Parts: sequence; C-alpha cells; structure tokens
Amino acid sequence: MENKIINLGIFGFGCVGQGLYEVLNRTKGINARIKKICIKDPNKARPIDSSYFTTDKNEILEDPTIDVVVELINETDAAFEIVSTALRNGKAVVSASKRMIAENMASLYQLQSENRVPFLYEASSCASIPIIRNLEEYYDNDLLNAVEGICNGSTNYILTKIFEENLSFETALQQAQDLGFAETDPTLDIEGFDPKFKIVILLLHAFGTFVKPEEVFNFGIHHLNDFDIEFAKSRNCTIKLIGHCRRNNGNVHAFVLPHLVKEHNLLYDVYNEYNGILLESAFTDKQFFVGKGAGGTATGSAVLSDISALLYNYRYEYKKIKQNNQPAFSNDVKLKVYLRYKSPDQVDLTEFFNISEKYESSTYRYVVGTINLQKLKDAQWLKNKDVNLLVLE
Ligand SMILES: NC(=O)c1ccc[n+]([C@@H]2O[C@H](COP(=O)([O-])OP(=O)(O)OC[C@H]3O[C@@H](n4cnc5c(N)ncnc54)[C@H](OP(=O)(O)O)[C@@H]3O)[C@@H](O)[C@H]2O)c1
Repeated sequence: MENKIINLGIFGFGCVGQGLYEVLNRTKGINARIKKICIKDPNKARPIDSSYFTTDKNEILEDPTIDVVVELINETDAAFEIVSTALRNGKAVVSASKRMIAENMASLYQLQSENRVPFLYEASSCASIPIIRNLEEYYDNDLLNAVEGICNGSTNYILTKIFEENLSFETALQQAQDLGFAETDPTLDIEGFDPKFKIVILLLHAFGTFVKPEEVFNFGIHHLNDFDIEFAKSRNCTIKLIGHCRRNNGNVHAFVLPHLVKEHNLLYDVYNEYNGILLESAFTDKQFFVGKGAGGTATGSAVLSDISALLYNYRYEYKKIKQNNQPAFSNDVKLKVYLRYKSPDQVDLTEFFNISEKYESSTYRYVVGTINLQKLKDAQWLKNKDVNLLVLE
C-alpha cells in the first residue's frame, strides 16, 4: 500500500469513531481518507456531513475501492460478522473491539492466514499504549515471564476518585460514563470482563497461547464497600483492578482481580483513565508502559497508528504461536487474598490452604489466607454481594 492514498471504510461513529475522525483530521502526512462510515441509527444527528454515512454495510464491504475496513462498533456479533467478511473479501482490517477479538481469537487468526490479509487491533488492549506491537516485535523471544497491569480505564478512574477524592462508587461511575471511559454496559468494566478480554489478547501475543475468555477468572470492583476501602487505607495501600498473566513451570495462568497495592508498586501511581502495563522478563526484570486506556482521541490515535502501519505492509506475525513451545493454560496457582463477608455461612473457608489472619465485628468479618485460583473461579459464594475479595501483594 506504499505511496498511495488508502480509502477507509469505517464502522461506528461513537466515542472512538469520532475520536479517529478528529485525530485523522489533525494529523498531517498520513495518506488516508474516509470514504464511507456505516452507522446503525440513520436518524441520529451527526457532527459531520451526512454524505459520509450509510446504514448499508455492503457499501463498505463490497466497495472494491475501499482498502481498509476500520471496525469501531459496540456490538460483538455484528463486529465479528463485519471483520470476517472484510477479511474474506481481501480487505485489511483495523479493529478496537476487544470482546469480539478475545471471543473469536482462533477464528480470526485462521481467517488472516487463509486470506493473507492483515488484521491489526492495537487499540483493543490498553487503548493508547502500544503494547501489542511491542509484544510482537520487541519481545519476540520466549524470555517473557509476566504481563500484568491496569487495563481498564473506567474502573481505574472510579478507584482513583474513591481513594483520592472520597467520591462514592455511584458518583464516580457516572463521571466515568459521562466522560466516555465506561463501556456502554458498565458491568463489563466493573465486574472485570473488559480487562479480561484484553488479558486474553495480550496473553496470545506474549506467550502464543490461545485462551477462551471463559477459562480466565475475573472478579471486579462491584462488591467493594467502605469496609474494604478502610482496610486498604489502614495498610497504606490503594486498590487497583489488575489483569495478570504469568508463565509458571511450563504453564501460564491468568486472572483479573482487585489488588491491594502498596506505594512502592509502579501501578500505585497510575491514576484516572490511565492504564499501566508491567512486563517482566528474564534479563531485564520489570519494564513499565503507561498511557491513556480509554477515551475517543486516545483510542483513535492507536487506530490511526494501525492504519499508518498498514501503509508499510505491517502485519502481526504471531511468532510465538509459530515457535511451538507455548505454555499450557492453567488455573492451578496459589493466591494470597483478603476475603470479607458478613456471616460464616456465606463463605467456605475449608477451601483455603491456610489462614494467617481472622477478624470479626458486628458488621463484617474477614480472613487473610491462601487459596487456589481454580477454587476461586468455581466458588459460587463469591456471587454474594456481602462477599468481597482482594489479592494481597
Ligand atoms: N470508548 C473507549 O474508550 C474505547 C477504548 C478502546 C476500545 N473501545 C472499543 O471500541 C468499540 C467502539 O466503542 P465506542 O466507545 O466508540 O462505542 P459507542 O460510542 O457506543 O459507539 C458505537 C458506534 O457503533 C455503531 N454501531 C453499533 N452497531 C452497529 C452496527 N451493527 N453496524 C454499524 N454501526 C453500528 C453505533 O451507531 P449509532 O451511532 O448509529 O448508534 C455507534 O456509532 C467497542 O468495541 C469498544 O469496546 C472503546
């Protein structure tokens, strides 16, 4: 595609679509122009000329003059349909839809190989942080031990407002939604599903292992209450929702869980909608990436970087899949946790390997102890709103 103007067909003109439009307009020297934008609601007022818009997806997918399809919609099944049709039609595709990508990773990998077309999705994981391309290109050997971090802008915004400004959970969530950081369905953020989709994508690029989202345990900040917040503050800690994957004796485990984070931890100072990713490798120890993890122009700039990369024929090579020494996915790992509950019948403490601390009061009780990740994933008692979980460092 070098030295030619590429025609873009965009799906979606919401937060990210409009962010891309702004970034594209303000970036000089990129040979790309928007030919058509497909949206869902023909009656919605749009901030740009109506001639751009269509509700007919085939005006993009079947247009031979459109080189690149940019998929930025908020409907998972429709997004997969659009992306797979575009790839089958031989078009390069850029997408930001982490859920769609995480749920269909193996099929999307196959579609790229079969149709020999690039599919780039940097914006899907940590928005503005260029983490996928770094995992692909710089960390292209097997010395990476762990990838972990804050990969959900809206929960980090909420936790920052709770800890730094003493806002209530509800007020902080409303602010995150008003600013466009929260997903259309906020349960995806606050229950930890959105960061899990990103961890599933990062795990593939870090270790070459395909994992289905349902294999990975996620527990968000939806059960957090004032008692937990006081517990964290009493230990000079903050709380962060952390996605984690680590290689361990030929296996790799992953989870998304709220953590107690001490001040010395680099993730402690990642505030508001910012994301932070820590990589750990055999010879370099820790390396830290930080940047905006949500928002229209921040995400749009990652989408633009993918479009620009297509101009020099960049594609993911998935080198770690091809290296054939991928670790197997396993949830068999011990975690040290704080477990808060109201009455003893709400939890099953026999699941713990050991309990090092026990507290009881007229309102809440908690234990600190060690438990297997798979036991937590299977625990029905964690669905009770009176029960909360925090991982200790
Ligand atoms: N917001 C962020 O900060 C962020 C960051 C990283 C990744 N993402 C991902 O980027 C994607 C878009 O997010 P967003 O925040 O921009 O969503 P959004 O503001 O809710 O906008 C969604 C857009 O998709 C359009 N749409 C929905 N279904 C469609 C369909 N079947 N065909 C054509 N258009 C359709 C909507 O059309 P109408 O305008 O007609 O309703 C709307 O323009 C999501 O997958 C999200 O997870 C978002």
